[in-house]
Amino acid sequence: MSLDITATSAWQKLRAHHGLVSDRHLREFFAEDPERGRELTVTAADLYIDYSKHRMDREALRLLVEVARAAGVEERRDAMLRGDHVNTSENRAVLHTALRLPRGASLIVDGHNVVADVHAVLDRMGEFTDRLRSGQWRGATGKRITTVVNLGIGGSDLGPVMAFRALRHYVDSGVTARFVSNIDPADLVGKLAGLDPATTLFIVASKTFTTLETLTNATAARRWLVDALGEDAVAGHFVAVSTNAERVAEFGIDPANMFGFWDWVGGRYSVDSAVGLSLMCVIGREAFGEFLAGFHAIDRHFAERPLESNAPVLLGMIGLWYSSLFGADSRAVLPYSNDLGRFAAYLQQLTMESNGKSVRADGSPVSMPTGEIFWGEPGTNGQHAFYQLLHQGTRLVPADFIGFAEPTDDLATIDGAGSMHDVLMSNLFAQTKVLAFGKTAEEIAAEGTAPELVPHKVMPGNRPSTTILAPKITPSVLGQLIALYEHQVFVEGVVFGIDSFDQWGVELGKVQALELEPILTEPQAPARQGDSSTDTLVRWYRHRRGR
Ligand code: F6P
Repeated sequence: MSLDITATSAWQKLRAHHGLVSDRHLREFFAEDPERGRELTVTAADLYIDYSKHRMDREALRLLVEVARAAGVEERRDAMLRGDHVNTSENRAVLHTALRLPRGASLIVDGHNVVADVHAVLDRMGEFTDRLRSGQWRGATGKRITTVVNLGIGGSDLGPVMAFRALRHYVDSGVTARFVSNIDPADLVGKLAGLDPATTLFIVASKTFTTLETLTNATAARRWLVDALGEDAVAGHFVAVSTNAERVAEFGIDPANMFGFWDWVGGRYSVDSAVGLSLMCVIGREAFGEFLAGFHAIDRHFAERPLESNAPVLLGMIGLWYSSLFGADSRAVLPYSNDLGRFAAYLQQLTMESNGKSVRADGSPVSMPTGEIFWGEPGTNGQHAFYQLLHQGTRLVPADFIGFAEPTDDLATIDGAGSMHDVLMSNLFAQTKVLAFGKTAEEIAAEGTAPELVPHKVMPGNRPSTTILAPKITPSVLGQLIALYEHQVFVEGVVFGIDSFDQWGVELGKVQALELEPILTEPQAPARQGDSSTDTLVRWYRHRRGR
């Protein structure tokens, strides 16, 4: 029987306290508690996290932690980390944290040390990528491989593509990567443009090896290769990443060229498994090892720190404070780093596929809104697009700002004297300040603003944000950031009482697309499928396609 957290006294105390503080302004919180900007912070590995600009006092934070405890966050966390089947609807362990345990560690699950398996695959990946990067692995014509093309979707794409962009400065051996995910042929066609089959290697990444998009793209890629180099070229130009050796062999990829993982790695938690092979190809096994070490540093923080100073717990509970008690629907993720341009997209799958659920683990309906809508774009681009709504709109949108001390690139400012990176970061700090404290009508009027313009210029403030700072985007820091969000998702999921590790909601659409496809294409297929909207849309499409 799942716990309904709203029925606990911890929740009732939290809700009552929310009633007392929800109308208060951040200006007041800071005035009466001047140390909060220094003290409501936490350091987790290399991440310095400021959560002082949230609409809560210290009592609210204490009560949030009490709720986390009442929900059993500590017990559930420990159960996950030791390999209990916390993915109950699929009866599976959830062990992405085992993917980053150091060599020599031991985690016995069902009588078996999974860490040894993990490192055996990492070693094979390392050997393969060493050969590829050194030019020892040659394509069918004897040329070295210069581009790997990852064919995968969802968790088999979003992590590697995000990390490849974030770590572009670590691409160091003349091997680059492209990523194809969509069944829209524009994706594959666009990504193959300009590539030479003789120097291209495809990584077919699919946990199940049944995903239509990936298998369709892999088949089309194989045709492209075979047309140019012949059937015998496939062995030297295709490798696979999957849990399904049988389907990989059926597809025609030599199982010796398959890199495995396990059903206890969820797709959206798999960038640190063999799914990261494309990333390892471009950054090398050592940097990939640092990436894993970054995840592990946060895993340890999550496992060991008391809830009161546990970054994923605090941030997850703060997320819940807004979504459950203020009714905020979304959370903006605003990295002040162009290199993190795909981070929000990555987090969308991680957070929304995990916590977008309506029933608790026992099938009973949830009693509060679940699954914050994650979205965002890098700053400063977003400032010139949607920040207007963040500052003066009627909706409450808590935001995570992410910034770095050291730039990945820097250039001089207009006058040649300053650093563009400093300008970028001054924008980050200014935005969180303006969001929190705003500008009052009195302050605006005092500047001589025409009275009729004053209401338009008022900046209400009281818009909450978290600021996450790190020294620099390195493989380790990227791993830390990802793990920080992975564990927040977990914490929120435990309080909701849901299974954060299944994704049944994506299945029906896949089935119906398969049913509809022949109706779009076959001349004799009946146009009627049942509802008048879909029927009319299909007829419109068939007509345009001359069918
Ligand atoms: O459709 C959703 C999903 O199952 C995701 O959870 C997963 O990451 C993605 O599809 C790809 O699945 P696979 O790696 O099995 O191809």
